[in-house]
Amino acid sequence: MGRHVICRAEDIAPGSSKRVEVEGREIAVFNTGTAFRAVTNRCPHEGADLCRGRIAAFVDADAPGAFTVDEDRVMVRCPWHGWEFDLETGRSYCDPNRVRVKPFEVNVQQADGRVEGKYSVETFPVEAEGEYLVLTI
Ligand code: FES
Repeated sequence: MGRHVICRAEDIAPGSSKRVEVEGREIAVFNTGTAFRAVTNRCPHEGADLCRGRIAAFVDADAPGAFTVDEDRVMVRCPWHGWEFDLETGRSYCDPNRVRVKPFEVNVQQADGRVEGKYSVETFPVEAEGEYLVLTI
């Protein structure tokens, strides 16, 4: 398991998401407003992109009209048929013991304005010898 720079934190506004591809896997990254969360982008029902789903706080109700909102638990609702998945655990709430998506850890790190990219070029030593530069290959 490697660490990958996927984008700048400011690229994902609160309440929005971004689809990224890491090591051939599509991952949906969400900014819940208080944290960043990431899950597999593919819904286990029929394969919709979860990055296109809406996020909302978990709502529980003991009786009609008597509900509580848990702002610490954030769900994503699949854009196709509305299945919901907890962004922390990946569990669904249509069948939480059987249906889930894989959650991933997301961290925000401070950078000094520069982040190493994935591309590089080969480097060679160059020395000044008298009035000439000498490249060593
Ligand atoms: S494809 Fe996600 S709920 Fe159907």
